[in-house]
Amino acid sequence: MALSDFDLVLFGGGGDLAMRKLLPALYNRERSRDIPQAARIICVGRHPWDREEFLGEVDRNARPNTASGTPDPAVWDAFCGRIDYVSVDAADAGSYQALAQALRPSGVTRVFYLATPPSLFAKICHNLSECGLATPESRVVLEKPLGRDLASAKQINAEVGRVFSESQIFRIDHYLGKETVQNLLALRFGNVLFEPLWRREWISDVQITIAEELGVGNRMDYYETAGALRDMLQNHLLQLLCIVAMEPPVSATPDAVRDEKLKVLRSLKRFTPHLIAQNVVRGQYRSGHVNGTPVPGYRKEQDANPNSRTETYVALKAEIDTWRWAGVPFYLRTGKRMADQLAEIVVRFKTIPHSIFAQPHRSFQANSLLIRLQPDEGLQLNLMAKTPGDNMRLRPVELELDFRETFKMPRMDAYERLLLDVLRGQLTLFMRSDELEAAWEWVEPILDYWEQEGDEPMPYTAGTWGPAAASALIGRDGLQWREEALPEE
Ligand code: BG6
Repeated sequence: MALSDFDLVLFGGGGDLAMRKLLPALYNRERSRDIPQAARIICVGRHPWDREEFLGEVDRNARPNTASGTPDPAVWDAFCGRIDYVSVDAADAGSYQALAQALRPSGVTRVFYLATPPSLFAKICHNLSECGLATPESRVVLEKPLGRDLASAKQINAEVGRVFSESQIFRIDHYLGKETVQNLLALRFGNVLFEPLWRREWISDVQITIAEELGVGNRMDYYETAGALRDMLQNHLLQLLCIVAMEPPVSATPDAVRDEKLKVLRSLKRFTPHLIAQNVVRGQYRSGHVNGTPVPGYRKEQDANPNSRTETYVALKAEIDTWRWAGVPFYLRTGKRMADQLAEIVVRFKTIPHSIFAQPHRSFQANSLLIRLQPDEGLQLNLMAKTPGDNMRLRPVELELDFRETFKMPRMDAYERLLLDVLRGQLTLFMRSDELEAAWEWVEPILDYWEQEGDEPMPYTAGTWGPAAASALIGRDGLQWREEALPEE
């Protein structure tokens, strides 16, 4: 669907997200000729740059982040031609006049993208409304963190909701923009093969991992107040869990999909202190080696609190109390400075009930479906097959689908995809307020427990798969994390 003409206003336009992700994503769409000729990108920030100075910033900081790092000069010039910069103090309604002058009065889609700290969301929305800029047709995009607990998430929803209706609000979770996440929807609801098996009778357990080799970089200020549970699990991992576990929605319309995701969040077994002690592991990295390079421990990173209790790793066992999923554990984990950089979902099926072959039953590996989100995007179905030869000997084999190989087409970055959806007014891949609150409601007992108990996160060596307690967590159920079950190389 072609885009209609737009004015896209980027609050935080000179910031890290704009330079690293948003402007490069828009440039890529420029290159694909998706952007209407008259469309404009109005970057807003406090810094008193004039337009030329700001374009210098874009050249230095956004240009290297475009797909090749060396954009086509003519396309880059055309792209920069759309960019304007307006200096606004987000908290001062008076300074919005300059923005009002930069916007076209009507007839174009108007989007306000708030890539700012959430403490500014309410102020910005209020001031946009005061200055008559928040028209009923305009849209607002909210970047995470969307709160730090249930109360603050509710407050953000209420304050933004005073100015914009739910259908105008786009809450970004960039994991939902990843190609393989949408492919998971295609896999589940575009094929008959899996649906009959997608339930407790046939699935033994599900593992969802987002592992990062990176540390906290220059985001210590934010990270120290967030930690892995707030930064990754409450949003990205729970959204992935919802896509794996939801019932078939009646259509792919925004509310049909979001209703089903909400039901999953509401059916998650509530955590009690006893369950948290048993089923949640939090860790913090100590110094170690990542890819052969020595790295400091979290407490020794630049600007770190040497006594920090912030977790850089979390693993937990979740359960979904529904007919489809009762008794199927969902193991979720994420961490920084881990042994690998990957995001993947493993759906493990049950073992065969009985072996008709001479080979003992326990030598049959359970079937599993590996859904790889990154670094490569693909699917791997693990089956048992006969080895060639005279005797009937079976061993595990892999059916691979590599999306890059299969679809020899350029891939869209998650932000590219989501920005296009915002500009088209397509809400399916954005979180609704009730989803956001249900996710906070579920994780909040864990946050409270950690706060009350005040105990230390478990140390793990940078460049490993996390604390030993995480292996014990899954090991108690007679299972292993995927990498632990792989044969030694
Ligand atoms: C962000 C987190 O939401 O996701 C970061 O704030 C994290 O801490 C990032 O590094 C991971 O995203 P991706 O797409 O690189 O896996």
